[in-house]
Amino acid sequence: MENIILNAQSMKSIIHCGKGTFEKYAKEVANKNPFIVTDSNVYKLYSDLIYSTFGKDVRIFVFPAGEKSKNSNTLFNILKAFTKGELKRSGTVVALGGGVVGDIAGLAAALYMRGVHLVQIPTTLLSQVDSSVGGKTAVDFQNVKNLLGTFYQPEQVIVDPMFLKTLPKREIRCGLGEIIKYGALDSKIYQKLIIAPNIYADEFLSSITYDCILHKAKVVEGDERDVNGLRKTLNLGHTTGHALELYYKRKSHGEFVLIGMYYELYIAEKKGVIGKDYSSSLKNLILKVLTPPAYPDIEEASKFAKFDKKNVADGVSIIVPEREGKSCEIILSMAEYTKLLKECSENGKS
Ligand SMILES: NC(=O)c1ccc[n+]([C@@H]2O[C@H](COP(=O)([O-])OP(=O)(O)OC[C@H]3O[C@@H](n4cnc5c(N)ncnc54)[C@H](O)[C@@H]3O)[C@@H](O)[C@H]2O)c1
Repeated sequence: MENIILNAQSMKSIIHCGKGTFEKYAKEVANKNPFIVTDSNVYKLYSDLIYSTFGKDVRIFVFPAGEKSKNSNTLFNILKAFTKGELKRSGTVVALGGGVVGDIAGLAAALYMRGVHLVQIPTTLLSQVDSSVGGKTAVDFQNVKNLLGTFYQPEQVIVDPMFLKTLPKREIRCGLGEIIKYGALDSKIYQKLIIAPNIYADEFLSSITYDCILHKAKVVEGDERDVNGLRKTLNLGHTTGHALELYYKRKSHGEFVLIGMYYELYIAEKKGVIGKDYSSSLKNLILKVLTPPAYPDIEEASKFAKFDKKNVADGVSIIVPEREGKSCEIILSMAEYTKLLKECSENGKS
């Protein structure tokens, strides 16, 4: 078990990582007037654990699993449940689930009574390595991902790999999407990824999760509210990933991050920003997890990139790796961005 302290400007967040952290720290949260928010899949798998840890009368709100629930309706239903359950300012919202639960419960905690205590207990690999840390909360709105949200730090994050035992392989792949993104930002993580005999092994995932959280914590400490460019780097692969996610809807976030990264590596090569060898090595990591498809209608999908929050005026902003441990921003006109994506799709992406 190891702790990472994230000293954000707004608040100090303690992240407990490793086997046994749930048993040790969730018991303490049970004494802090918890209100659990979770989704239907997690509830089905872990209701016994929830009641044995937090008490049989613990207040709980369960919503249907999946990104489709990440909307203002669910948000308001959670807020109604807080009111009905008489959640007080001294109470603690416990977000127990994947990134969807974490984002929406975090936003509800920030809004209710102008902010109540928040503990994140991430149960997917993606939420453990990334979304539960750093205080970004959101719901999708008007077909735009994460359009409504706020920055709201959890006081504690409990990252216990025991939850990964029930996670479908596809969700492990999604988490690997964010992990490979961290590899493209951090040379220590990159080195570990390229020498790992099996990136799916439990021990490997536990240790790399700690490294990714450490990287994110440093970035968030330097740019909590995403204003000076540092935090923007965590969006590597996300401009195209989000656009494809909004248009095609079929895959999930982590898979689209990897596909987005693959397409954006093509753009970075074409723009002369990244060397061929390093780009190929990153692409090989991506190929260990999935094969990015060709998209015949990618021109249409690319239009969704115009909603990306990083964009300036008419340009599309993408964050791409330059060399080990170093990334940069490229701004392209929409026409050039679309042309390069199309070219990548038609050329078999390489
Ligand atoms: N706030 C941030 O900084 C940030 C960063 C990255 C991604 N995100 C957001 O995170 C979301 C994606 O998160 P996700 O991939 O965790 O999706 P998710 O929350 O939908 O979880 C994926 C699936 O796994 C199920 N699940 C959760 N825990 C499980 C377990 N232990 N065993 C079996 N099944 C389990 C869920 O019910 C769901 O069906 C997206 O909405 C994305 O925008 C936020």
